[in-house]
Amino acid sequence: MARLFSPVANTIARASLVAAVALPVGAIVMGSVVSRSPANTNVGVAFDQPVPFSHAHHATELGIDCRYCHTSVTKSSSAGIPSTETCMSCHSQIWTDSPLLEPVRQSWADGKPIRFASTGEVGWNRIAKVPEFVYFNHSIHIARGISCNECHGNIQEQHMTAKGKPFFMKWCLDCHRKPEKALYVDEQQPELTPQEKVFAFYRKIQEGAKLSARELALKKGRDYQPTSQELQKGLELVQAMDIKVKTLADCYICHR
Ligand code: HEC
Ligand code: HEC
Ligand code: HEC
Ligand code: HEC
Ligand code: HEC
Repeated sequence: MARLFSPVANTIARASLVAAVALPVGAIVMGSVVSRSPANTNVGVAFDQPVPFSHAHHATELGIDCRYCHTSVTKSSSAGIPSTETCMSCHSQIWTDSPLLEPVRQSWADGKPIRFASTGEVGWNRIAKVPEFVYFNHSIHIARGISCNECHGNIQEQHMTAKGKPFFMKWCLDCHRKPEKALYVDEQQPELTPQEKVFAFYRKIQEGAKLSARELALKKGRDYQPTSQELQKGLELVQAMDIKVKTLADCYICHR
């Protein structure tokens, strides 16, 4: 029988076999490098979801408080994603024929989590995420009056949720080393606790109240450079709240 492959071709074949075996290992190694970065570079890209849920409609136009849906954000490490029941508290009565809401009704009817109609894939796509080895806690940040928009961008304006900030370690550390940059009192409502201020901000937006330069930047999800006077006030808040800046950038704070 005629030889199908020349010795050279054989060598190439063997080489590509070796490559094929080596590839998965390479892919895993690459994957562990790459897996973080897309999550971190997808900033501003809207994620596909089982239902096109709009924060602009629900949070701003209808004025529903973040805590109605993200019930644990002031109490625990995670904010929580609302259950179908939360949606149905309204959508069993309004917009009941909307084809867009079919996956919500389906989930309510069969008692299973929401899923993509097209693929059957279960659940909402997660957008804001840090790797497993990073410890994060919502409640402490909200208690200190750090706005959701400081970390999530202009959520209240979005029709499809997108990632606001890349959660690089350096980004966390920049604030942990100088939290005074992000701490402020709402001069129009100085009586609010820092936590109340976080949510009052969205009511101001909804009511079209006058916003400070800082609040305008927050509204748009832009970085803000505080004036030296604001930094001074921020430092006073650091002291008043007894924030331990000396240890806030230590590894064990976020890697436990
Ligand atoms: C407090 C009441 C309320 C809750 C709770 C609520 N919605 Fe809505 N939703 C509305 C109203 C009112 C509209 C119509 C808003 C508009 O178009 O201005 C609406 C519109 C929508 C639409 C657009 C429907 C269309 O055909 O245009 C979708 C999708 C939607 N809601 C999804 C959800 C999901 C998912 C949840 C749960 C996470 C939820 N809603 C929770 C009141 C609510
Ligand atoms: C009516 C319910 C509802 C309200 C009110 C609401 N959200 Fe949401 N939120 C959702 C749902 C449903 C999702 C998951 C779908 C998506 O990402 O859009 C979500 C997702 C998010 C995410 C992305 C989570 C992820 O996947 O990583 C952030 C951040 C967020 N919401 C912040 C806010 C803030 C800030 C407010 C208040 C200004 C708010 N939400 C008000 C229902 C709500
Ligand atoms: C200091 C930055 C920061 C602030 C402030 C912040 N978040 Fe987050 N948020 C994060 C990080 C980091 C994650 C990813 C956490 C993870 O992967 O465990 C996240 C995740 C989420 C999620 C995804 C689901 C979950 O349970 O974690 C939602 C929803 C959310 N945030 C809503 C909010 C809301 C609402 C507020 C304001 C009331 C807020 N966040 C304030 C940084 C922040
Ligand atoms: C805009 C400012 C800001 C950003 C951004 C920020 N933090 Fe914080 N963080 C704070 C402040 C302020 C505190 C409260 C410290 C205190 O009260 O002692 C805090 C506290 C914490 C704590 C609790 C510390 C303790 O003593 O238990 C953890 C954990 C944490 N942050 C993790 C993170 C991670 C992870 C990120 C990035 C994904 C992040 N933070 C981003 C300002 C920020
Ligand atoms: C304020 C929170 C915070 C503190 C403090 C912190 N880290 Fe991180 N670290 C993170 C976050 C968030 C990531 C994930 C970054 C990403 O996904 O790109 C991370 C990732 C890492 C990684 C993985 C590689 C990389 O760069 O992504 C290593 C290693 C690491 N941290 C080591 C440390 C060491 C050592 C310290 C102390 C000197 C430290 N971290 C302090 C938040 C923190």
